[in-house]
Amino acid sequence: MFIGIDLGTSSIKMILIDQNQKILATATSSLTVQSPKNGFSEQNPQEWIDSTMNCFEALKLKKPNEFSQTVSLGISGHMHGATLIDKDGNVIRPCILWNDTRSHQECEEFEKQNFDVRSISGNITMPGFTAPKINWIKNNEIDNFRKIFKVLLPKDYLRFILTGEFFSEMSDASGTLWLDIKHRKWSNKLLSCSFLEEKHMPNLVEGNELTGYLKKELKDKFNFNNNVKVVGGAGDNAAAATGMGITNKNQSFISLGTSGVFFTPTESFLSNTGDAVHSFCHCLPNKWHLMSVMLSTSNCLDWICAVTSTSIAETFNNVEKFYTDEDTINNSSYFLPYLSGERTPHNDPHIRGSFHSIKTTTNATDLQYAVIEGVSFGILDGVNSILKVNDNFDNIYMVGGGSKSSFWIELLASLLNRKLSVCDQSEFGAALGVARLAMFQDDTINKKEKIVSEIKISKIYEPKKNNIDILLRRYAIWKDLYNSNNKIAQNLNF
Ligand code: XUL
Repeated sequence: MFIGIDLGTSSIKMILIDQNQKILATATSSLTVQSPKNGFSEQNPQEWIDSTMNCFEALKLKKPNEFSQTVSLGISGHMHGATLIDKDGNVIRPCILWNDTRSHQECEEFEKQNFDVRSISGNITMPGFTAPKINWIKNNEIDNFRKIFKVLLPKDYLRFILTGEFFSEMSDASGTLWLDIKHRKWSNKLLSCSFLEEKHMPNLVEGNELTGYLKKELKDKFNFNNNVKVVGGAGDNAAAATGMGITNKNQSFISLGTSGVFFTPTESFLSNTGDAVHSFCHCLPNKWHLMSVMLSTSNCLDWICAVTSTSIAETFNNVEKFYTDEDTINNSSYFLPYLSGERTPHNDPHIRGSFHSIKTTTNATDLQYAVIEGVSFGILDGVNSILKVNDNFDNIYMVGGGSKSSFWIELLASLLNRKLSVCDQSEFGAALGVARLAMFQDDTINKKEKIVSEIKISKIYEPKKNNIDILLRRYAIWKDLYNSNNKIAQNLNF
């Protein structure tokens, strides 16, 4: 048996699978996010521990025999968070999360060096990434900075709690900006831009390699028979890709989750920093990937549903009827989906969301349509940014909460003018990905190359020719709206 733990932003999800990758039991425990100021987003790492223990308990209750036979486990987590540990292993302050934008000034400071930072890090320095968060701590909380013994990513802190070991792996470490992405090792030059050294970093492995064993007290507490092995695991997007078997250059996925992601593997290091494309290591050896990231995706939908007091199901129903009339679409409003700034392609922490072209006739459905369309335009921006350096992908899978809506997938298929595949995915995709990585440490499995196989397609959505032109015409106008809005963005927030 194998366990996959996915430390998400809003919950921990855990699965127990057998050697045939059959899911035997699942468990979920929710987490909270604190936003003490505009642009701040933090989490208390103690919640990760409590939720993980709750999930272990729940799996054990559901399948006691199978659970006790666990051989190995993998951990996936939301990326980039800065969890600071002092020399006694204590957490110094709340973890600053991936969607926190406070460190925009420090991004400039980080890049002001006598060498080309981006050529090693492969990425633009964005406030979401780990490195500028540490520069912010140095500039604003010097006492906390002085206490730093290790900087750990969220899932690597959880690993430390479970095993007592300090390890990370290539996919998540890529999002720190301290990794030499091409050579898959910490870069002393990049670390020095945050006034850190390699001793502040955990050791590095690939996602399917061993990092340690579950502590004895946890083994005893949960009645595990074996010394449970813990593998490197992966950042959440690489983990989701592994759960679907997306490791080759012709494959890709779009995720409509809290963040909106387009992800495609590459066979070597490639980058497009100009459009804020993320260039990271994949979680398996000798594999890399490109990724576009929108910061607000399904949460734009949640937001408009809350504001208009409409359920998500009702919203899709209304919007589907609305979408059948060409005139209505042509005259509908526009929405910029930048509720907490944007990464790809703008790298703009100041921009915020806005509606445009509101009329006396504008109603709730019009606004709801504008939100879904605006988020979709953002996804197209991401795909186009990656196409500038890589057009190897032909198969695109749809994942994440938003991909449960056939209306949304159809709209995207037409907008991208590509076929989109849907699989029988569950919300446990990233957990499955790291459970698969854990399977590499089971000595009784011979055909390891079969572990990360491609998931079965359950439906393919084709573009609707009639809709392509109208959507692209609106996309061109939408792009102009950002170009004019960004001029005032700096003055919008205090
Ligand atoms: C990726 C990113 C998000 C988070 C949260 O760069 O910031 O996808 O990992 O899901």
